[in-house]
Amino acid sequence: MKRILIVYLSRTSNTKAVAEIIHDAVGGTLARLEPKTPYPENYGAIVAQVQRENETDYLPPLATRIANVRQYDTVFVGFPTWGMRLPPPMKSFLHDHDLSGKTVIPFNTHAGYGVGSSFEQIKSLCTGCNVLQGFSSRGGAERDGIHLAIEGKRRDEVRGEVLAWLQGIGVLQPRDRSRRGAAVR
Ligand SMILES: Cc1cc2nc3c(=O)[nH]c(=O)nc-3n(C[C@H](O)[C@H](O)[C@H](O)COP(=O)(O)O)c2cc1C
Repeated sequence: MKRILIVYLSRTSNTKAVAEIIHDAVGGTLARLEPKTPYPENYGAIVAQVQRENETDYLPPLATRIANVRQYDTVFVGFPTWGMRLPPPMKSFLHDHDLSGKTVIPFNTHAGYGVGSSFEQIKSLCTGCNVLQGFSSRGGAERDGIHLAIEGKRRDEVRGEVLAWLQGIGVLQPRDRSRRGAAVR
């Protein structure tokens, strides 16, 4: 039996919704990434900070540390698109945890502009990992005041997309029933 970790970063809970859908489908351990110093609430301020962090290759320290990451064979990594790139806290996670030899599966939500370079960044930062085809779907658009969009009917729609993707990459067999694993923070 494969041991699965699902790690995600989420500010307005869209990526969290996708993480929960994946968790319902495949089980395993669900963990939310939190930076040590929270990002500003203000959208303009976070955009400016993320841009500075990207320019200087700054890796923000994390409050989250996954104990004994070695025990997992498969690691799902979820994040929103930030500035058409991988959010700095996810770069910190990949820097702090050695995932070599594991299967790494990216997933993403965005405001309509896609993943940008984030999946390519995962591939180059995860040396020695087997990075499978990622999943991406439209989430919120904080810039326009839309925070959690993956709820209600949209959540059901995204669940359908996620299950088809999991089957497509061979993580889920078409007949697999929904099962739930341990949830930890
Ligand atoms: C700092 C910041 C930068 C963002 N940059 C982009 C972007 O470049 N392209 C895009 O489509 N969405 C962008 N977004 C929107 C988020 O990717 C989108 O709302 C996503 O669903 C948020 O996920 P979450 O609810 O899990 O935080 C940005 C959001 C933030 C906070």
